Amino acid sequence: MRIIRKAAAVSLIAGLGLAATVAYAAEDPIKTRQAIMSSVGAAAGLGGGMMKGEIDYVPAAGKAAIATMRAASLAYGDYFPAGSDQGDTAALPAVWEDRAGFDEKLADFAAAAEKAVEASGKEGPADVEAFKAAFGPVLQACKACHETYRKSN
Ligand code: HEC
Repeated sequence: MRIIRKAAAVSLIAGLGLAATVAYAAEDPIKTRQAIMSSVGAAAGLGGGMMKGEIDYVPAAGKAAIATMRAASLAYGDYFPAGSDQGDTAALPAVWEDRAGFDEKLADFAAAAEKAVEASGKEGPADVEAFKAAFGPVLQACKACHETYRKSN
């Protein structure tokens, strides 16, 4: 059981890498930002699963989830050019109408991710308590942005 759950964490890490590759290969800004958010969703799933004890905590997996969040927070803002409010997107017009507000939410997300990276060290947070302290604030940034800038479904 233990081994199976560790394997699940490892395959989730592999999935994060794949999502990141997709993100940087795509040229369509809408697809690119959605792929970045998919990798964020996968990292949140992995990190949240470990926080809840559904997946055994592995420091390297904690580190990977944090690193994914940080990379996403740094790249994400580049994929909202003028005109990309049209098309198959869940981004609300508020992103373009209130770009400063959107950038602020993004900066909060980036700051939380950056702090988590610092807490993560070389090997990743040592135990699940340390991981929770680092990753919890990153997860709080999701809803803060989505409630104003993403269509609810
Ligand atoms: C600064 C704003 C912002 C933050 C912070 C943010 N998101 Fe998003 N997210 C968006 C927007 C905007 C979309 C819709 C993008 C589109 O469809 O063009 C989105 C879409 C998504 C999607 C759907 C991706 C897809 O396949 O289309 C997921 C999953 C997601 N976010 C998860 C998260 C999680 C988990 C966090 C926190 C760890 C987070 N987001 C933080 C703005 C944000």
